[in-house]
Amino acid sequence: MKIIDDLPHDLDPKALTCKGELSYSENWCIHLYEQVPSTNALAGHLPAWHAVRARTQTAGRGRAGHSWVSNLGGLWLSAVVPCPSDEAVWAYLPLAVGWGLLRSLRKMGVHGARLRWPNDLMVGRKKLAGILVERFTPETIVVGVGVNVLNYPSAIDGTLTATSTRLADLIEQPESLTELTIRFLRAIRSAHDELWAHGFSPIADELNATWTERKSVQLLTEPDASPIVGEFVGIDDCGALRLKRSTGVIEAFDAARVSLLTECN
Ligand code: BTN
Repeated sequence: MKIIDDLPHDLDPKALTCKGELSYSENWCIHLYEQVPSTNALAGHLPAWHAVRARTQTAGRGRAGHSWVSNLGGLWLSAVVPCPSDEAVWAYLPLAVGWGLLRSLRKMGVHGARLRWPNDLMVGRKKLAGILVERFTPETIVVGVGVNVLNYPSAIDGTLTATSTRLADLIEQPESLTELTIRFLRAIRSAHDELWAHGFSPIADELNATWTERKSVQLLTEPDASPIVGEFVGIDDCGALRLKRSTGVIEAFDAARVSLLTECN
């Protein structure tokens, strides 16, 4: 796994429209900005248990080099957690965070919320939130979470109309962005604590129990290679996707190997 070293560029102070306003909640130190390029890049400089939230991002980052639409009204949040340089943790941390956020969404009354491996929170076929985990230092990991709340991502990118949803369309009265920040930071902390206390296996078991519907999926691995097709049959104890091929053979795919997963049914 690569340690990202593009901080000086992203941190051009001219790109930040407001100095971070500080607040504290449940052991988290939260920095709030009006507008930043990416909260993940900013958080990369901070110690563990600090978090950055911005009202908008001008260069929001998604998984596999994609951009992330981050207009006003959404929750754009990055949390720094302690994490030793261990490839194994790297593979399953996004799933553990997804498990924590999924439980929060269900508690909030979001019906039909599910995790799409490895990092998408979905409701039906539409994406509500995404998780991007990045490492900037050997001792910490930045957990970036983007949740569509009151914003319409399709106002910026029309192609997202069919594929994205927002909290305001799923529950009657979403909490404020400040309340959601606290709720999701609590979820990230408990996923981290659970992982360090009991390992990933119990979380993998719980996630596997949520995937009751067998989905046919297509995986893109290398840029010019043909998609790999099969049935998604859950994850293993390392967080790798288990794909059942038409031959009946089950193959494991680490998230680092897969640039795109498409559900076919
Ligand atoms: C994905 O689904 O591809 C992951 C999207 C992650 C977006 C969040 S928004 C807060 C944080 N800052 C970023 O630049 N990206 C993450």
